[in-house]
Amino acid sequence: MKPEIVLTGPMYPDTMRQLDEKFTVHRLWQAPDKKAFLAPLAPRVRGIATTGGIGADAALMDALPNAKIISCFAVGVDAVDLEAAKARGVRVTNTPDVLTDCVADLAIALVLASARLVVRGDRFVRAGKWLEGQLEYGRKIGGSKLGILGLGRIGAAIAERAEAFKMEILWHGPRPKPAVRWRYVPDLIAMAREVDFLVVASPGGAATRHLVSRAVMEALGPEGTLVNIARGSVVDERALVELLEAKKLGAAALDVFENEPHVPEALFRMENVILQPHQGSATHATRAAMGQLVVDNLEAFFAGRPLLTPVV
Ligand code: GLV
Repeated sequence: MKPEIVLTGPMYPDTMRQLDEKFTVHRLWQAPDKKAFLAPLAPRVRGIATTGGIGADAALMDALPNAKIISCFAVGVDAVDLEAAKARGVRVTNTPDVLTDCVADLAIALVLASARLVVRGDRFVRAGKWLEGQLEYGRKIGGSKLGILGLGRIGAAIAERAEAFKMEILWHGPRPKPAVRWRYVPDLIAMAREVDFLVVASPGGAATRHLVSRAVMEALGPEGTLVNIARGSVVDERALVELLEAKKLGAAALDVFENEPHVPEALFRMENVILQPHQGSATHATRAAMGQLVVDNLEAFFAGRPLLTPVV
């Protein structure tokens, strides 16, 4: 008998194929009435596979009381209620490490694209504007200062890449790390004031909500660029839009938003803004590796083996 799981939303196609092969999968997002869908499954379902965006709340855990593992297709588990999971003895896994390079690559791509007007340049040529004149100038990367908020695995991978571009690296987080070679700045506003680019690489969730406040973005200033590849919740999005409109913040390059897939439409009109559809880890190799962890964690749990990448 294959273990039964609930899948909350679509995943990488090969991951879904593997899940179907190894488990009996109930597709929650396809059910018009979720409560009615879950009720008869409750006695049988022993696990949940979910995405970083959908996560799992206490209500879902209560609807599936025999599901004692939540395998999350993301490194960030801010959408999973970890306290509720702990209280119910539910294990939670994520997909760290395998996505670090790709997310850091996108962060650097956004820094470069924003500074060197890559997306604007493309629009400029396509619109036939080159025939009428020159695109305005961009900013030099080498010698500029990059501030990283959150020096975890992804933050460190961004710093390593930025070093190769001859950027000066500063970072801020809840506490200094003695083994780190980059300069720690204990105050986020002070760091924002000093840098040209502020890259958000911290976890999401309540602890970091709106950490990039109006005051932080004002400190970054009209010459500064905000890059976010972490979670939309870390940035006060309304203040971001207002400061960009008032030209009190120079530019922004964003892969994540507070209410995905909804993006403030005011941003659509701004030439100094680059928008991406939350695709930091979205390469075939990385999504396949993330999916493998989702599957392997479920299999390990059902076989009574240690979990590969436990969070709780
Ligand atoms: C993506 O956002 C992730 O947390 O993996």
